[in-house]
Amino acid sequence: MRIDILTVLPEMIEGFFNCSIMARAQKKGLAEIVIHNIRDYTTDKHHKTDDYPFGGSAGMVMKIEPIDRLITKLKSERDYDDVIFTSPDGERFDQRMANSLSLCNNLIILCGHFKGIDYRVREHLITREVSIGDYVLTGGELAAAAIADATVRLIPGVLGDVGSALDDSFQDGLLDHPVYTRPADYKGWCVPEILLSGNEALIREWELNQQIARTRRLRPDLLKD
Ligand code: ADE
Repeated sequence: MRIDILTVLPEMIEGFFNCSIMARAQKKGLAEIVIHNIRDYTTDKHHKTDDYPFGGSAGMVMKIEPIDRLITKLKSERDYDDVIFTSPDGERFDQRMANSLSLCNNLIILCGHFKGIDYRVREHLITREVSIGDYVLTGGELAAAAIADATVRLIPGVLGDVGSALDDSFQDGLLDHPVYTRPADYKGWCVPEILLSGNEALIREWELNQQIARTRRLRPDLLKD
């Protein structure tokens, strides 16, 4: 899978994709993350990516020309499943959306910035708007990183242990069960006996009961349908 991220601040997320599981996924050839600087597609002397809004309201607006040039170039090179724009106005990103995006071959994620973006970008160049929650970030870079991370880790082979993505909180509509490691007794804070029993069937049953109890307590909304 290839994800092209379009931003005016590439340095904000480059480090993120060069670390840990995201870096390993790329080394293994399971994911290709290509970060593009929108500024490289400006043609004016000052490399302007934003301008004053028509109508005189406050703040700057991202210009359409460099974004169109970049998206048009990318689309001439391969077919894209979706061109996503990160925005608090968008449909809410969740595990279900991550699952469906992980089946895509090529995605573009355009990071919003400043006060807004020339509305014609949203009308003509993107296929969907995605929000990572009801709060406003200073830019869409963190949102793009969150969307790409949650999506790439679901690609088979990215996580070492095949079971671990399937066990995730939300993957089966339930929160995860507690996990523990050594020592079994730390300052008198003991690991539940059952986990030391060696009885696989009872342990699986305990884990499922814990998932249901934690979901009921912490996220009862997930049990509603
Ligand atoms: N840009 C600013 N805030 C955002 C959010 N909550 N989700 C996605 N993109 C954003």
